Amino acid sequence: MGLSNLKDRVVSFANREQFNYSALPEHGNQGGSETQGPSWLDRHKSILRVTGVALLLAVIGTVAVNLTATRKGHSCDYVQTGFQCEKAISHSWGQYSPFYSVPSDIPNDIPAGCEVTFAQVLSRHGARDPTQGKSLAYAALVDRIHSNVTDYGKHYDFIKNYKYTLGADQLTVFGQQQLVNSGIHFYRRYEKLARNVSPFVRTAGQQRVVDSAVNWTQGFHHARLADKLAKFPDAYPYDLVILPEEEGFNNTLSPMTCTAFKEGPDTGGDAQAIWVDTFVPPIAERVNKNLAGANLSYSDIIHLMDICPFETVANTDGHLSPFCHLFGEDEWNGFDYYQTLGKWYGYTNGSPLGPTQGVGFVNELIARLTGQPVRALR
Ligand SMILES: *[C@@H]1O[C@H](CO)[C@@H](O)[C@H](O)[C@H]1NC(C)=O
Ligand SMILES: *[C@@H]1O[C@H](CO)[C@@H](O)[C@H](O)[C@H]1NC(C)=O
Ligand SMILES: *[C@@H]1O[C@H](CO)[C@@H](O)[C@H](O)[C@H]1NC(C)=O
Ligand SMILES: *[C@@H]1O[C@H](CO)[C@@H](O)[C@H](O)[C@H]1NC(C)=O
Repeated sequence: MGLSNLKDRVVSFANREQFNYSALPEHGNQGGSETQGPSWLDRHKSILRVTGVALLLAVIGTVAVNLTATRKGHSCDYVQTGFQCEKAISHSWGQYSPFYSVPSDIPNDIPAGCEVTFAQVLSRHGARDPTQGKSLAYAALVDRIHSNVTDYGKHYDFIKNYKYTLGADQLTVFGQQQLVNSGIHFYRRYEKLARNVSPFVRTAGQQRVVDSAVNWTQGFHHARLADKLAKFPDAYPYDLVILPEEEGFNNTLSPMTCTAFKEGPDTGGDAQAIWVDTFVPPIAERVNKNLAGANLSYSDIIHLMDICPFETVANTDGHLSPFCHLFGEDEWNGFDYYQTLGKWYGYTNGSPLGPTQGVGFVNELIARLTGQPVRALR
C-alpha cells in the first residue's frame, strides 16, 4: 500500500483515453536526452504543497480540533474556521474576504475502506496591501474627498480625519498569520500523513507568494513540534521550489506567461462593467449626498468599498474598518458579485482560455508524481 500504489494509480489515470490530451509514457523517455531519476514521489514522499495560482482556493476542513484564536487580543480569525468577524459583511468581499470555512452538509470523513496517501493544498497568498496601482488610486480618491467635500454626512465625518497609509503589494501581518494558520490547519487535518514526512513546497516567485509559502511552513512545522507522535527530525526549514513569474519561464502557476491570455480581451472587466451600472447607482446617489461636493463616479464608489477590506486586513486583529459600515449587507452582496464576475469571466470557466490554463498545472503535477519530464500534452 501507499506510495508506489499511488504512483501506479497516477500513471494509469494519466493513461486513460477519455481526454483530449495524450498521456505520459509509462516507461523510458522518448526524447532520449532526459534522464529519469528516482521519482519525485520517492524522494519527497506524500505531501505536496503548491502555492501560487490566480485564484485563492480555500481548503476547508472539519477535523475536530479546538477553535483556537490565533492571537491574544480580540481577533476573530480562527485556525479551524477562518475569519468570523461580522461575517454578514466580511464574507461578501469577493477575493478580498479573508479566508473562511464555508459551512457544508457534506461530511468530509474519509469513506470507509479508503486511506489518504497524498494531500495537496493550493493557495495564492495571504491578505496583503492593495496592488501599487490601486493603492495610488485610493490615496488620490481620499485626497479628492478631503479637498472637495464641503459637508460630511452623519456617518461619514470620520473620513475628514482619516489618513490613507496603506502600502503596496506585500502581505500584512494579518496576512502572514493567515498562512501560519493554514499550515497548522493542514497539519492537523492530515496529521497521520504529516507526522511522518516533510512537505514539498512549490511557489510562484512574487514576493508575497514566497512569503506566504514561508509562513505556511512555519505553521506546519509548529503544529508538528506540538505533535507528540511526530517523527523527528524533519527537514525544517523545508526547501522551497521557487518558479519565477518572469518571461522565459513556463510557470504553470502564473496566467500571464500565456501571451494569448495576457493580450486577449478583458472578459472580466467587460462583465463587471455591466453589473456596475446595475448595482452602483443607488449607492453613488446616497454617498454623494453624504459627501457633498465629492461628485464620486461609479468607479470611485468601488474604490471606496475596496478600502474597507484593505483597512481591515491592515489591522493585526482584523477589526472591521469604519468604511465597511458605510454600506449595507445587500450592497456588500452586490460587491461580492462584482468581484466574482471579474474572476469568473477573467480567469476561470467564463474566460475562453481559463480552463485550458489549468492543463499546464495538471501536467506538471503528473510529471512530479510520476518522476517523468513534463510533456506538452495536446
Ligand atoms: C476636486 O478637487 C480637485 C483637486 O484635488 C480638483 O482638481 C477638482 O476639480 C475637484 N472636483 C470638484 C468636483 O470640485
Ligand atoms: C512570517 O514569516 C516571516 C519570515 O520568517 C516572519 O518574520 C514573520 O514573523 C512571520 N509571520 C508570522 C505572523 O509569524
Ligand atoms: C516553454 O514552453 C515552450 C513551448 O512548449 C518551449 O518552446 C520553451 O522552450 C519552454 N521554455 C522553457 C524556459 O522551458
Ligand atoms: C461630476 O463628475 C462628472 C463625471 O464623472 C462630470 O461630468 C460632472 O461635470 C461633475 N459634476 C460636477 C458638479 O463637478
